[in-house]
Amino acid sequence: MGREGKSQRMVDKKELKDLSALIEMRLSRRQAMHYGLGSLLAATLPLTACSQKQIGPEDKLVTPELLGFKSIPVAHLVDELVVAEGYRAEVFFRWGDPVSDGPAFKMDASNTAGEQLQQAGMHHDAIQFYPLPIGSDNAKHGLLVMNHEYIDAQLLHRDGGVFDSPENYTLEKTLKEQNAHGVSVIEVRREKTGWQIVRPSQYARRITAQTAISISGPVAGTKYVKTEADPLGQEILGTLNNCSNGKTPWGSYLTCEENFNNYFVLPTKAEFSEKQRRAWKRYGIKNSYYGWYENDNRFDVSQHPNEANRFGWIVEFDPHDPESKPTKRTAMGRFSHENVAHNICEDSRIAFYSGDDAKFEYVYKYITNKPWDGTQGIHHGQLLDDGVLYVARFDENGTGVWLPLVFGLGPLTQENGFDDQADVLVHARMAADAVRATAMERPEWVTTHPDSHDIYVSMTNNIKRGQDGKPDKDAANPRSNNAFGHIIKIVEDDVTSTEFDWDVFVLAGDEEHQSTINGDLYANPDGLMIDSRGVLWVQTDVSASKLNTGTFAQFGNNQMLAVDPDTGETRRFLTGPIGCEITGVTMTPDLKTMWVNIQHPGEVPEVLKRQGVKKTPATPNIASNWPDHQQNGRPRSSTVLITKNDGGVIGS
Ligand code: FEO
Ligand code: CA
Ligand code: CA
Ligand code: CA
Repeated sequence: MGREGKSQRMVDKKELKDLSALIEMRLSRRQAMHYGLGSLLAATLPLTACSQKQIGPEDKLVTPELLGFKSIPVAHLVDELVVAEGYRAEVFFRWGDPVSDGPAFKMDASNTAGEQLQQAGMHHDAIQFYPLPIGSDNAKHGLLVMNHEYIDAQLLHRDGGVFDSPENYTLEKTLKEQNAHGVSVIEVRREKTGWQIVRPSQYARRITAQTAISISGPVAGTKYVKTEADPLGQEILGTLNNCSNGKTPWGSYLTCEENFNNYFVLPTKAEFSEKQRRAWKRYGIKNSYYGWYENDNRFDVSQHPNEANRFGWIVEFDPHDPESKPTKRTAMGRFSHENVAHNICEDSRIAFYSGDDAKFEYVYKYITNKPWDGTQGIHHGQLLDDGVLYVARFDENGTGVWLPLVFGLGPLTQENGFDDQADVLVHARMAADAVRATAMERPEWVTTHPDSHDIYVSMTNNIKRGQDGKPDKDAANPRSNNAFGHIIKIVEDDVTSTEFDWDVFVLAGDEEHQSTINGDLYANPDGLMIDSRGVLWVQTDVSASKLNTGTFAQFGNNQMLAVDPDTGETRRFLTGPIGCEITGVTMTPDLKTMWVNIQHPGEVPEVLKRQGVKKTPATPNIASNWPDHQQNGRPRSSTVLITKNDGGVIGS
């Protein structure tokens, strides 16, 4: 698996170019994209220009058929998790379960803020497995690290949140909500009886919306992040709306701050500059979901205008050291980061790809300036402080350009309102507007293929496309009123390329709406993960306002599917309980254990709302009572463990 010598690489680059030209002559670009130019080249050449991890015959897993399971039917308002025949799914780690030997969950939501701090947060999202010992490929012992994206205050408190019981919205409630956010680290081990959570564990940890976090990169210490509580702009309390994640090759965890704007309130903009007001508008800072500002005034932007600049970043930490301080990596830009995936170049520099999940937002790529030396350790995190951020322009002819977001380059100058590089990064969306990046349909997850290094990005939906004077369809966003979403595939010659080819990998939805799915239908792709065998796992997030209703009824409850990236063959593998979305998936290195996260079961699908079903603090389980199904219970986001009955590879 070692890298080849430099001269060999240079020869390969030339060979690659020649062969690429030959293939291009025989196949149209779109055909080449369909069959995977990367795979064609990889199959033909002994090496490719960016073959970071060429798998030799001795390294290959005994590879069963890519998709070997029988697909399952759509689940219509079934309040259970269903997985393909021959597989077993077990609830493993629920909201409120202790991360170590802490307090037990109380089904009546009476756990205190202090207790919540020692328990799983709410609304599990992305998840990663880290084998122990560090750097090994142990499939029987490791850490599970996962995000808790947001909360449902009607489930978290006995009498609900600020909107349910405004007269009883206390500091204790704010703290419990903040402690239900962030990240959990748990230790897991496969015993004779099956997988167990190790309790107590020296690794167990919670990171919350109150945890002290460093700021690094070009924005650290600048005027944009200095506050009354932190006059040097060096330390932020907390991370929040931790949606999806990424894993660095050096063994750290990257948690992504998505819709941070919804935590801040902006009652008045009167005394602020025009530039500041434009920035708040561009980032959607106006109203708060939760009312934290009532008890923690840093979330009132009119009092603490820079506090909102301290969120919307990628945060790195070492999951192996529970005492380690996380770091916000500002060189990677500030926006609603969904997740982050990477490719490693032959010269060992690394590209990190991240989508900004909002309507008409962009896809970004960050390339480290320096190479990674191939060793483990959080000290490599400094690579995330020194690099160039780019944003994607998808051209009509199927090519694209990564446009650099560098102060002084192109329109990113003082004449155009940018003061310095920190300004460009804090206001990455505005910088991306200025360089005319392509506005996309809510870019959610990015995943990279382990062999071809092709990049897949889910565009979950954008019903505003072509509506109300908004931009109409284009080649990369080919449907007006895009209710069902699609997945884009990006092919780069080299990880450090600033040009790429792209195609629409699949249009989701049904045939009536021009779906190109080859197999089981789904809508609103969100979570994406390609495993080491090359199976593309797709997780859906049809929102409650559409779920099980009208045209969307045919897709049933949210689901997870397995896709063959070469043929597009799509099989439904798992369906979730009522009201949930499926988000987050990780596997052990032998691919024989999978964990999947089930988020927000119990949201009320529109079709039930129309029948008068209403969730209140007094009726938390009116739509779903998964997974515990206790009479006075409440639905709980959970990690589910999946194994194959014959002990085989998941998906085969
Ligand atoms: Fe948190 Fe865009 O999903
Ligand atoms: Ca998502
Ligand atoms: Ca969602
Ligand atoms: Ca989503």
